[in-house]
Amino acid sequence: MSDRISSDPTGAGDQWGSQAGFILATVGSAAGVGNVWRFSYVAGENGGGAFLVLYVLSVLLIGLPIIIAETAIGRALRHDHAPATRRLPKLRHWQFFRVLSVLSALAILSFYAVIAGWALRYLIGAVDGSLLRIASTGHGEFFARFIADPVEPVIWHAAMMAATVFIVIRGVQRGIETANRILLPALFAAVALLAVYGVTQDGAGAGLRFLFQPDWTVLGQPRVYLAAMGQAFFSLGVGMAIFVTFGGYMPQRQSVPVAALAIVAGDTLVAVLAGIAIFTTVFAYGTDPTAGPQLAFITLPHIFVALPGGRVLAVLFFALLVAGALTSMISLLEVPVAWCVQYTPWRRRQAALALGVLIFVLGLPSALGFGLLADIRWHGRGILDSVDFVASNFLLPLGGLLLLTIVGWRWGRAPATAAANLDGNRAAAPWYILIRWITPLLVLVILARGFLNG
Ligand code: PFF
Repeated sequence: MSDRISSDPTGAGDQWGSQAGFILATVGSAAGVGNVWRFSYVAGENGGGAFLVLYVLSVLLIGLPIIIAETAIGRALRHDHAPATRRLPKLRHWQFFRVLSVLSALAILSFYAVIAGWALRYLIGAVDGSLLRIASTGHGEFFARFIADPVEPVIWHAAMMAATVFIVIRGVQRGIETANRILLPALFAAVALLAVYGVTQDGAGAGLRFLFQPDWTVLGQPRVYLAAMGQAFFSLGVGMAIFVTFGGYMPQRQSVPVAALAIVAGDTLVAVLAGIAIFTTVFAYGTDPTAGPQLAFITLPHIFVALPGGRVLAVLFFALLVAGALTSMISLLEVPVAWCVQYTPWRRRQAALALGVLIFVLGLPSALGFGLLADIRWHGRGILDSVDFVASNFLLPLGGLLLLTIVGWRWGRAPATAAANLDGNRAAAPWYILIRWITPLLVLVILARGFLNG
């Protein structure tokens, strides 16, 4: 089994068709509902500007080192046959990490697909205009009724899963790379247009000040630091073998640190542009930036109704959410599919279909958790929130910690640094100190917070 890993970690013999393939797919994986829906409400609840500073620090101190480590290991397992690398798949930590990453992907995709389904429903409503015909005060009730319906959320959830399976079946180049080539530019164009529109509105200054002018007093609250670190984990999608899997499809000559920098820059740019678009609009209309998860589905549609050109804006906004969701869902499905292709006799098509159905079924409780199953609650959270909580606060950080242990403590400095293309680079020493000491400590803090808040 381990020999198969060291010769071909993906088992599929796949490779990106171009230099840009890896960056496109990983930026697609990172930029998603987390950047638009989650980033804006978490930033709103945690003080705006000061949160943004802590978020960028978390991306640099946690996200970037883990992305480099994950990618290095993924590529080395495919191309590097040195003894230190051949030993890695035999480590118990590695087997744990792989199983955990598959479980995390199944859990995250099961609820993520439900939110993606809501976004698709809203996109259709924006396109046919029905969303804009709801009385401007009726959006709260509309959303509550929609997510509580026993059938509708399930249908949209199924539609998003079907699209994801369709793309993954087509393979690394023809499916994932091609989809990202189309969806990612559309996503950047939509978020940039919305941001430009946002800053041209009267009263936009208050929104920009909220996002960019830090109110340092919130730094006295530990929850703001923790929210920033947790958001960095989720938004970049680290700790889940996505970069290991996609790094395995990466050509030897591409530089790992350059790709990693492009990924964190691309992901942060999408979050900041989405933040500009959302907060300028929210402030221009005098609504509440701390509205929480309902910001995207209630507050914004409510504003779109009142805006000139609101329908175009609504189409752009929900198209942005759907495109972001789909590019992230593809990678969330690719992790378990690559694992199945590697460890079971299944081929890509069978694995993608079977896992697609499994994830759809696993997502049913989340899809029905606001209606039929609304009584099922855990520590005050509904089903969807509980799965999100467990995955984001336990599974992903635990995966990150295992990976850091493998790369920082088991692999050896020389092979790890070489695989990360940091040989002879001034960044090598800081990176190694980060992955051995600082990043694991910060990740432990996230885990401890999960336990304390649980
Ligand atoms: N990073 C994606 C987003 O921000 O929407 C979602 C995601 C993908 C989360 C992959 C976790 C993950 F492992």
